[in-house]
Amino acid sequence: MQVQGAIALVTGANGGIGQYYIQGLQQTGAARIYAGARNPDSLKDIAAADPDRIIPISLDITDEASVKEAAEAYSDVNLLINNAGVGFNQRLVADANFDQMRVEIEVNYFGTLRMCLAFAPVLKANGGGAIVNMLTMLAKVNFPLNASYGASKAAALLATQGIRAELASQKTLVVGVMPGTVDAGMSKHFPPPKVAPEEVVRAALQAVVDEVEDVYPGEQAQKMQAQLLQDPKAIEKWMAEMVST
Ligand SMILES: NC(=O)c1ccc[n+]([C@@H]2O[C@H](COP(=O)([O-])OP(=O)(O)OC[C@H]3O[C@@H](n4cnc5c(N)ncnc54)[C@H](OP(=O)(O)O)[C@@H]3O)[C@@H](O)[C@H]2O)c1
Repeated sequence: MQVQGAIALVTGANGGIGQYYIQGLQQTGAARIYAGARNPDSLKDIAAADPDRIIPISLDITDEASVKEAAEAYSDVNLLINNAGVGFNQRLVADANFDQMRVEIEVNYFGTLRMCLAFAPVLKANGGGAIVNMLTMLAKVNFPLNASYGASKAAALLATQGIRAELASQKTLVVGVMPGTVDAGMSKHFPPPKVAPEEVVRAALQAVVDEVEDVYPGEQAQKMQAQLLQDPKAIEKWMAEMVST
């Protein structure tokens, strides 16, 4: 589908990458952009840049009522961008912080799933449309220093595949975006290599136009994906070694 003229909804629009999604949608010519945040006041400046097109909305993806309300109120959406996510840099054994692990699962897996389920009928009514789920390469190979985040995103990756299969008959494209480290948001202070957030957004929106299901934005993600296809054990061991270094 074309992003130009689309009616988009972005979750976590006040976050690092979320703000670039808003910009990318503006530049690509989306007709309306619902910018979701738990605190819509945090979107004032973003919306002020283009008040006719950017509409701040209140949305907590872990709250069933909030998501249901959004699906009812914004029934013109044909492009859903599930960008909201959390990561606490938790190791599984050494940290064993079940409270934080539960939040990661609630937001990254159940939250994303809840949004897909609530908006599936909306997208169907609007001709099929598309869903973009922000995943990560850490959904495909575990990074032990951020292991529980990766596990929650792996669940979201498998959910993305399941939803894709189920929504194929209503012609909804379901895109999974798997960057490595992005130079924004939760990885702002991480060391390089990092991919620019503009590049992640450009690749994700282009995938919607080209109907590409799996997107690996940036050199780091592309190299990792190539290695995973060639020798998955080697990359698992390489990531594992970072626990002790
Ligand atoms: N940065 C990276 O290196 C990287 C790499 C690969 C994938 N990703 C993924 O990209 C997405 C955006 O990450 P980011 O780096 O931009 O992180 P970020 O700056 O921390 O932004 C995360 C966003 O998610 C929102 N959020 C958290 N819990 C929510 C909830 N219950 N309901 C609604 N919104 C909620 C946050 O809103 P509040 O202000 O309300 O907390 C914030 O807007 C995430 O899914 C992340 O996993 C990031």
